[in-house]
Amino acid sequence: MILVTGATGRLGGQIVRLLRAAKMDVRALVRAGSEYFWLNDTGCTYFFGDLRDPQSLRRASKGCSHVIHAAGVEVESSENHHSVTTLQGSIDLVEAAKLRGVQHFVMVSCIGAGRGYENPHFDSQRQAEEHLRASGLSHTILRCAPFVEEFAKLAKDCADGERPRFWGSKDAQISPLARRDAALFSVASLDHPSAKHATLEIGGPETMKMEDLVQRALDKAGASSGPIWSGAGSMVAANLARVAGRRWKHWIQRQALLYGEDHEVDMGAMSESMGLPLTPVDQALDEALAAWVPGQDPEDRNEKVVHRQFQATVYAPGEVLWEDLPDGPMRETDD
Ligand SMILES: NC(=O)c1ccc[n+]([C@@H]2O[C@H](COP(=O)([O-])OP(=O)(O)OC[C@H]3O[C@@H](n4cnc5c(N)ncnc54)[C@H](OP(=O)(O)O)[C@@H]3O)[C@@H](O)[C@H]2O)c1
Repeated sequence: MILVTGATGRLGGQIVRLLRAAKMDVRALVRAGSEYFWLNDTGCTYFFGDLRDPQSLRRASKGCSHVIHAAGVEVESSENHHSVTTLQGSIDLVEAAKLRGVQHFVMVSCIGAGRGYENPHFDSQRQAEEHLRASGLSHTILRCAPFVEEFAKLAKDCADGERPRFWGSKDAQISPLARRDAALFSVASLDHPSAKHATLEIGGPETMKMEDLVQRALDKAGASSGPIWSGAGSMVAANLARVAGRRWKHWIQRQALLYGEDHEVDMGAMSESMGLPLTPVDQALDEALAAWVPGQDPEDRNEKVVHRQFQATVYAPGEVLWEDLPDGPMRETDD
């Protein structure tokens, strides 16, 4: 059984589909209110838990031989933020995996996590990585380059008449990665010898200037105007960060570091040794623009629904009292 966190996310969903296509047993960790129905056709099983709830992680890991940890916090909220979820949640998941004798743990991280950036996103991922490396568990850490699909989304918004702000530098060098390739590497890392105890930076097959990538995406989406470019050091960034509050400040900083700094990856040797050909950027852009499925994009999911039959098993840390729940089978004790 393979436990996948972030299964309702864009990357995690693709990981679940790949694993199920290979007829592997998958347990998807799903948090209260997540929309998971679009994974029903995969035949994966669901475990209702939350990275902020260590007991749910211990229970979710029970009987699992492998873990792929692909959950992430994009924009922080006061309850779900990097220190409690990205850092502490990852630490608790690693500990749960150790307790349950998991054979291999794949952690999806982000390019730049090793660069010492002073930003909670990168810093929490770096510390979570360190915890996994020191845990003694067999593991792979995949530091992914920005996904091509993010640029398809940006271009689609521009084509729809919006003028989004883009926190990046036109001259930054980037090796954008197709999300499905990130999913492939995550799955291949489960048992590939070259991925064992390794921290790998993964990117796409081409390195290009950020400006060229954005323009390619805009052309493909048929957008007549592009985003408003704002560098990390711009006056607008500084002013917005000051007034926008902590979570937006962190988010702006993160975007500016991810899209404003050089993040080149040479994938030649690794792609060959793992036997995984990489998707060309044009193809990934075309596919992302052609197959836009709003329901599969968390940003486009307006309504969070929980299916009635699962109401009683949904965790909402700190909110649910056992005595409020309807009678059901006795809970298994797991400690
Ligand atoms: N996007 C990029 O360009 C990029 C680049 C490099 C690396 N990455 C990394 O790739 C990973 C996945 O990215 P993505 O684009 O697939 O993200 P995503 O679509 O935003 O998905 C995030 C997932 O994490 C889950 N999650 C959030 N908080 C949680 C919590 N407290 N407990 C359990 N699950 C929680 C979400 O569940 P809900 O459905 O309930 O919200 C969702 O399934 C992240 O680690 C990210 O840092 C992304």
